[in-house]
Amino acid sequence: MPEQYFGSLLGRVASATDGVSLIDLGRGNPETGPPAHVIDALVQAAARADVHGYAPFRGLPELRAALAARYSEAYGVTLDATNEVAILPGTKTAIVELSLALAENGQTVVLPDPYYPDYPSGPALAGADVAYVPLPPWNGWRPDFSQAATDNVAALYLNYPSNPAAVAAPDGAFEEAVAYAQTTGAAIVHDFAYGDLVFDGREPRSFLATPGAKEVGVEMFSMSKSYGMAGWRVGFVVGNAEIVERINLLNDHCRVGIFRPIQEACIAALTGPQDSVAERRDTYQRRRDRVFEVLEPLLGPLTCEGTFYIWIKLPEGVTFETLLTEHRVVVAPGEGFGPSGAGHARLSLAVDDETLELGLERLASAFDAAR
Ligand SMILES: Cc1ncc(COP(=O)(O)O)c(C=O)c1O
Repeated sequence: MPEQYFGSLLGRVASATDGVSLIDLGRGNPETGPPAHVIDALVQAAARADVHGYAPFRGLPELRAALAARYSEAYGVTLDATNEVAILPGTKTAIVELSLALAENGQTVVLPDPYYPDYPSGPALAGADVAYVPLPPWNGWRPDFSQAATDNVAALYLNYPSNPAAVAAPDGAFEEAVAYAQTTGAAIVHDFAYGDLVFDGREPRSFLATPGAKEVGVEMFSMSKSYGMAGWRVGFVVGNAEIVERINLLNDHCRVGIFRPIQEACIAALTGPQDSVAERRDTYQRRRDRVFEVLEPLLGPLTCEGTFYIWIKLPEGVTFETLLTEHRVVVAPGEGFGPSGAGHARLSLAVDDETLELGLERLASAFDAAR
């Protein structure tokens, strides 16, 4: 198995915690939880007598219907709640299980470069090879499909809004992905974990809104980032019915349904007022602006169209280690995000304003000293 990036990052940070305060901008863990009506739904459901047994294997039909309704309303995508929605304990699980469900031993799984560090785990468990499709920054981080493997490819993963590049889906990228799938036979797996977190008036863009997408692929949707429910562990695989069925079958063997009160609270989140989603998005956009204000004079122009990250090229002489040991600020080191990640770092905006200010002060002093 490859090194588990986030596990080892936490270890590196813990070993540097020597009593002097560290500012941690390395983690993508939402700093505020879900709105009160979601917590109330959990509490009320947990107090009932009929919720403590095994939940249905494939989840509550009402939760699948709620997700389908949200997809229609927010992203203009029609889903059959029975056949085209699978419920999983978080999209991290879906990321791994989709490789197991799609790739045979010896096939290839194509990952975007840069990628979210959990992506190589599934191919490793499936005994599949990994190849990359570059996302060149000079081309708006749009996948360069001319560089993607075409032989014996089981699946190609994409992720917009992108972690770590923080860009929204570029025009035409999803259409090109569908065309690639049609010519190679690969399935497209789109990670939409940050779907709702796009800035500057952009509309969320689901891969499944692309003509032909449902014939060739699926999308992962997460409760973690839109609703601040990362610890609750609920995510979905939606789209192509055959792939959804494979995921459900794998889950029939590996798990039973998620605790019913959690599913009921997810229904409350998906069907109730959505103001908290907009507030969250606006907060991250405001913090993005603040980071740009402080760091652009030192680093040059930065890009952040969505997510709650900023992907930066580190100045010469500045590394994860120097930031950690000399400046007491943690960033996510770029090396774990794929071949193009070296020399880069990912900063998180999912911290309170005070922490962000302290972190920016320390980063600015490190970058200034390197000039
Ligand atoms: C791009 C991306 N996909 C998936 C996940 C996992 O999300 P979940 O909490 O649904 O497992 C994350 C979490 O940080 C992420 O950044």
